[in-house]
Amino acid sequence: MSQIDRTREQDRLIKIYTKKAKHYDITSRLYPAPFYPQRAQRLRTVQALGLHAGDSVIDIACGTGLNFSLIEEVIGPDGRIVGVDLTDAMLARARARIETNGWSNISLVQADAVDFDFPTGVDAILSTYALSQVPECAEVIARGAAALSGGGRWAVLDLKVPDNTPVSLARLGTAMVRPFASIDEWITRRPWETIRTAMREELADTSWTDFFFGTAFLAAGSRRPGTFGVRPSGSVD
Ligand SMILES: C[S@@+](CC[C@H](N)C(=O)[O-])C[C@H]1O[C@@H](n2cnc3c(N)ncnc32)[C@H](O)[C@@H]1O
Repeated sequence: MSQIDRTREQDRLIKIYTKKAKHYDITSRLYPAPFYPQRAQRLRTVQALGLHAGDSVIDIACGTGLNFSLIEEVIGPDGRIVGVDLTDAMLARARARIETNGWSNISLVQADAVDFDFPTGVDAILSTYALSQVPECAEVIARGAAALSGGGRWAVLDLKVPDNTPVSLARLGTAMVRPFASIDEWITRRPWETIRTAMREELADTSWTDFFFGTAFLAAGSRRPGTFGVRPSGSVD
Protein backbone atom coordinates (compact mmCIF):
# COMPACT_ATOMS: atom_id res chain seq x y z
CA MET A 1 0.00 0.00 0.00
CA SER A 2 1.40 3.41 -0.95
CA GLN A 3 1.86 6.08 1.71
CA ILE A 4 -0.96 8.13 0.16
CA ASP A 5 -3.37 5.16 0.22
CA ARG A 6 -2.33 4.36 3.77
CA THR A 7 -2.95 7.91 4.98
CA ARG A 8 -6.32 7.90 3.21
CA GLU A 9 -7.24 4.59 4.87
CA GLN A 10 -6.17 5.88 8.30
CA ASP A 11 -8.26 9.04 7.83
CA ARG A 12 -11.26 6.98 6.78
CA LEU A 13 -11.04 4.73 9.85
CA ILE A 14 -10.41 7.63 12.22
CA LYS A 15 -13.52 9.40 10.87
CA ILE A 16 -15.63 6.27 11.32
CA TYR A 17 -14.47 5.58 14.86
CA THR A 18 -14.56 9.21 15.93
CA LYS A 19 -18.27 9.15 15.07
CA LYS A 20 -18.78 5.81 16.82
CA ALA A 21 -16.72 6.48 19.95
CA LYS A 22 -19.35 8.17 22.11
CA HIS A 23 -21.85 5.31 21.91
CA TYR A 24 -19.43 2.49 21.05
CA ASP A 25 -19.86 0.63 24.36
CA ILE A 26 -23.61 0.37 23.75
CA THR A 27 -23.69 -0.06 19.97
CA SER A 28 -20.89 -2.62 20.06
CA ARG A 29 -23.25 -4.90 22.00
CA LEU A 30 -25.17 -5.17 18.75
CA TYR A 31 -21.95 -5.94 16.87
CA PRO A 32 -21.86 -7.75 14.55
CA ALA A 33 -25.50 -8.60 15.36
CA PRO A 34 -27.84 -8.36 18.37
CA PHE A 35 -27.22 -11.13 20.93
CA TYR A 36 -23.88 -11.99 19.33
CA PRO A 37 -21.77 -13.71 22.04
CA GLN A 38 -19.09 -11.05 21.98
CA ARG A 39 -18.29 -11.07 25.68
CA ALA A 40 -17.84 -14.85 25.71
CA GLN A 41 -15.47 -14.53 22.76
CA ARG A 42 -13.48 -11.79 24.53
CA LEU A 43 -13.24 -14.00 27.61
CA ARG A 44 -11.95 -16.94 25.54
CA THR A 45 -9.36 -14.62 24.01
CA VAL A 46 -8.07 -13.39 27.35
CA GLN A 47 -8.00 -16.99 28.61
CA ALA A 48 -5.94 -17.97 25.54
CA LEU A 49 -3.22 -15.58 26.75
CA GLY A 50 -2.61 -17.75 29.83
CA LEU A 51 -2.06 -14.66 31.97
CA HIS A 52 -0.69 -14.56 35.52
CA ALA A 53 -0.69 -11.90 38.20
CA GLY A 54 1.87 -9.21 37.41
CA ASP A 55 1.97 -9.83 33.64
CA SER A 56 2.39 -7.09 31.04
CA VAL A 57 -0.17 -7.01 28.22
CA ILE A 58 -0.52 -4.96 25.04
CA ASP A 59 -4.03 -4.48 23.62
CA ILE A 60 -3.64 -3.54 19.95
CA ALA A 61 -6.47 -1.36 18.60
CA CYS A 62 -7.93 -1.36 22.12
CA GLY A 63 -10.77 1.00 21.24
CA THR A 64 -12.65 2.10 24.37
CA GLY A 65 -10.94 -0.58 26.46
CA LEU A 66 -13.65 -3.24 26.56
CA ASN A 67 -11.02 -5.91 27.28
CA PHE A 68 -9.39 -4.08 30.17
CA SER A 69 -11.55 -5.41 33.03
CA LEU A 70 -11.11 -9.02 31.88
CA ILE A 71 -7.33 -8.55 31.79
CA GLU A 72 -7.18 -6.62 35.06
CA GLU A 73 -9.02 -9.43 36.85
CA VAL A 74 -6.08 -11.73 36.14
CA ILE A 75 -2.98 -9.52 36.14
CA GLY A 76 -4.00 -7.42 39.15
CA PRO A 77 -2.41 -4.16 40.25
CA ASP A 78 1.15 -5.44 39.77
CA GLY A 79 0.50 -6.09 36.08
CA ARG A 80 0.56 -3.56 33.29
CA ILE A 81 -1.60 -2.89 30.21
CA VAL A 82 -0.67 -0.74 27.24
CA GLY A 83 -3.64 0.10 25.01
CA VAL A 84 -2.81 1.20 21.47
CA ASP A 85 -5.32 2.76 19.07
CA LEU A 86 -5.43 4.99 16.02
CA THR A 87 -8.45 7.02 17.06
CA ASP A 88 -8.15 9.72 19.69
CA ALA A 89 -11.89 9.70 20.41
CA MET A 90 -11.85 5.94 21.17
CA LEU A 91 -8.86 6.45 23.47
CA ALA A 92 -10.71 9.26 25.25
CA ARG A 93 -13.44 6.75 26.14
CA ALA A 94 -10.77 4.27 27.24
CA ARG A 95 -9.25 6.97 29.44
CA ALA A 96 -12.64 7.64 31.04
CA ARG A 97 -13.03 3.90 31.73
CA ILE A 98 -9.60 3.79 33.37
CA GLU A 99 -10.46 6.76 35.60
CA THR A 100 -13.87 5.37 36.54
CA ASN A 101 -12.29 2.07 37.58
CA GLY A 102 -9.31 3.67 39.32
CA TRP A 103 -6.81 1.58 37.36
CA SER A 104 -3.33 3.05 37.70
CA ASN A 105 -1.47 0.42 35.68
CA ILE A 106 -2.83 1.18 32.18
CA SER A 107 -1.22 3.52 29.68
CA LEU A 108 -2.63 4.52 26.32
CA VAL A 109 -0.76 5.21 23.10
CA GLN A 110 -2.29 6.83 20.03
CA ALA A 111 -0.63 5.14 17.07
CA ASP A 112 -1.26 3.10 13.98
CA ALA A 113 -0.65 -0.52 15.00
CA VAL A 114 1.88 -0.93 12.23
CA ASP A 115 3.97 1.99 13.51
CA PHE A 116 3.76 1.02 17.17
CA ASP A 117 7.14 0.39 18.72
CA PHE A 118 6.46 -2.77 20.78
CA PRO A 119 8.37 -2.80 24.07
CA THR A 120 10.44 -5.97 24.33
CA GLY A 121 9.80 -8.71 26.85
CA VAL A 122 6.04 -8.26 27.00
CA ASP A 123 4.09 -11.24 28.36
CA ALA A 124 1.06 -11.07 26.10
CA ILE A 125 -0.48 -9.24 23.16
CA LEU A 126 -4.09 -9.33 22.03
CA SER A 127 -6.24 -7.65 19.44
CA THR A 128 -10.02 -8.02 19.29
CA TYR A 129 -12.37 -7.20 16.40
CA ALA A 130 -9.80 -4.89 14.84
CA LEU A 131 -6.77 -6.47 13.19
CA SER A 132 -8.65 -7.44 10.02
CA GLN A 133 -9.08 -3.72 9.39
CA VAL A 134 -5.32 -3.20 9.38
CA PRO A 135 -3.96 -3.90 5.89
CA GLU A 136 -0.49 -4.60 7.32
CA CYS A 137 -1.85 -7.07 9.90
CA ALA A 138 0.84 -9.67 9.10
CA GLU A 139 3.54 -7.12 9.86
CA VAL A 140 1.86 -6.19 13.15
CA ILE A 141 1.75 -9.87 14.14
CA ALA A 142 5.41 -10.36 13.23
CA ARG A 143 6.57 -7.27 15.12
CA GLY A 144 4.50 -8.25 18.14
CA ALA A 145 5.83 -11.81 18.07
CA ALA A 146 9.39 -10.50 18.05
CA ALA A 147 8.67 -8.41 21.16
CA LEU A 148 7.22 -11.21 23.30
CA SER A 149 9.05 -12.62 26.29
CA GLY A 150 10.02 -16.30 26.20
CA GLY A 151 6.71 -18.18 26.36
CA GLY A 152 4.79 -14.93 25.76
CA ARG A 153 1.42 -15.27 24.02
CA TRP A 154 -0.33 -13.51 21.09
CA ALA A 155 -4.10 -13.84 20.56
CA VAL A 156 -6.25 -12.38 17.79
CA LEU A 157 -10.05 -12.40 17.84
CA ASP A 158 -11.87 -11.10 14.80
CA LEU A 159 -14.76 -11.59 12.45
CA LYS A 160 -14.57 -13.62 9.27
CA VAL A 161 -16.80 -14.88 6.51
CA PRO A 162 -17.79 -18.49 7.28
CA ASP A 163 -15.97 -21.03 5.13
CA ASN A 164 -17.71 -22.09 1.91
CA THR A 165 -20.03 -19.08 1.90
CA PRO A 166 -20.75 -17.87 -1.65
CA VAL A 167 -19.36 -14.37 -2.20
CA SER A 168 -22.80 -12.89 -2.92
CA LEU A 169 -24.18 -14.22 0.36
CA ALA A 170 -21.08 -13.09 2.25
CA ARG A 171 -21.47 -9.63 0.80
CA LEU A 172 -25.11 -9.46 1.85
CA GLY A 173 -24.39 -10.71 5.38
CA THR A 174 -21.33 -8.61 6.05
CA ALA A 175 -22.86 -5.48 4.52
CA MET A 176 -25.39 -5.63 7.33
CA VAL A 177 -22.86 -6.02 10.09
CA ARG A 178 -19.52 -4.53 9.11
CA PRO A 179 -19.10 -0.97 10.31
CA PHE A 180 -17.28 0.37 7.32
CA ALA A 181 -17.93 0.88 3.66
CA SER A 182 -15.24 -1.11 1.87
CA ILE A 183 -16.91 -4.42 2.47
CA ASP A 184 -16.01 -5.81 -0.93
CA GLU A 185 -12.37 -5.05 -0.27
CA TRP A 186 -12.56 -6.87 3.10
CA ILE A 187 -14.24 -9.95 1.60
CA THR A 188 -11.81 -10.07 -1.32
CA ARG A 189 -8.75 -9.50 0.85
CA ARG A 190 -9.82 -12.28 3.27
CA PRO A 191 -7.70 -10.84 6.10
CA TRP A 192 -8.46 -13.76 8.42
CA GLU A 193 -6.38 -15.97 6.10
CA THR A 194 -3.49 -13.50 6.23
CA ILE A 195 -3.76 -13.49 10.02
CA ARG A 196 -3.85 -17.29 10.16
CA THR A 197 -0.74 -17.60 7.99
CA ALA A 198 1.16 -14.90 9.89
CA MET A 199 0.36 -16.49 13.26
CA ARG A 200 1.61 -19.87 11.99
CA GLU A 201 4.76 -18.34 10.57
CA GLU A 202 5.68 -16.18 13.54
CA LEU A 203 4.62 -18.24 16.55
CA ALA A 204 4.81 -21.73 18.06
CA ASP A 205 1.96 -23.90 19.40
CA THR A 206 -0.56 -22.04 17.30
CA SER A 207 -4.26 -22.76 17.55
CA TRP A 208 -7.25 -21.67 15.50
CA THR A 209 -10.82 -21.80 16.79
CA ASP A 210 -13.90 -20.88 14.80
CA PHE A 211 -16.68 -19.24 16.81
CA PHE A 212 -20.37 -18.90 16.19
CA PHE A 213 -20.86 -20.78 12.92
CA GLY A 214 -17.52 -19.61 11.58
CA THR A 215 -18.39 -15.90 11.78
CA ALA A 216 -15.43 -15.22 14.09
CA PHE A 217 -12.10 -16.81 14.92
CA LEU A 218 -9.58 -16.91 17.71
CA ALA A 219 -5.98 -17.40 16.61
CA ALA A 220 -3.36 -17.81 19.31
CA GLY A 221 0.24 -18.85 19.72
CA SER A 222 3.39 -18.56 21.82
CA ARG A 223 6.75 -17.01 21.21
CA ARG A 224 9.00 -19.45 19.39
CA PRO A 225 11.82 -20.75 21.57
CA GLY A 226 15.20 -19.33 20.63
CA THR A 227 13.91 -16.32 18.72
CA PHE A 228 14.60 -13.66 21.31
CA GLY A 229 16.15 -10.59 19.70
CA VAL A 230 15.34 -11.68 16.13
CA ARG A 231 13.68 -8.86 14.23
CA PRO A 232 10.62 -9.75 12.14
CA SER A 233 12.18 -8.72 8.85
CA GLY A 234 14.66 -11.59 9.25
CA SER A 235 13.89 -15.29 9.26
CA VAL A 236 12.54 -16.57 12.55
CA ASP A 237 12.82 -20.24 11.57
C1 LIG B 1 -14.29 -2.44 16.08
S1 LIG B 1 -13.21 -1.43 17.04
C2 LIG B 1 -12.58 -2.65 18.19
C3 LIG B 1 -12.10 -2.00 19.45
C4 LIG B 1 -11.69 -2.99 20.55
N1 LIG B 1 -10.55 -3.77 20.18
C5 LIG B 1 -12.84 -3.87 20.93
O1 LIG B 1 -12.67 -5.10 20.93
O2 LIG B 1 -13.90 -3.35 21.29
C6 LIG B 1 -11.80 -1.21 15.97
C7 LIG B 1 -10.74 -0.30 16.57
O3 LIG B 1 -9.56 -0.44 15.78
C8 LIG B 1 -8.94 0.83 15.70
N2 LIG B 1 -8.05 0.77 14.55
C9 LIG B 1 -8.38 0.58 13.25
N3 LIG B 1 -7.28 0.55 12.49
C10 LIG B 1 -6.22 0.71 13.33
C11 LIG B 1 -4.82 0.75 13.13
N4 LIG B 1 -4.28 0.64 11.91
N5 LIG B 1 -4.03 0.92 14.20
C12 LIG B 1 -4.55 1.04 15.44
N6 LIG B 1 -5.88 1.01 15.68
C13 LIG B 1 -6.70 0.85 14.63
C14 LIG B 1 -10.08 1.81 15.60
O4 LIG B 1 -9.70 3.11 15.95
C15 LIG B 1 -11.08 1.18 16.56
O5 LIG B 1 -10.90 1.70 17.86
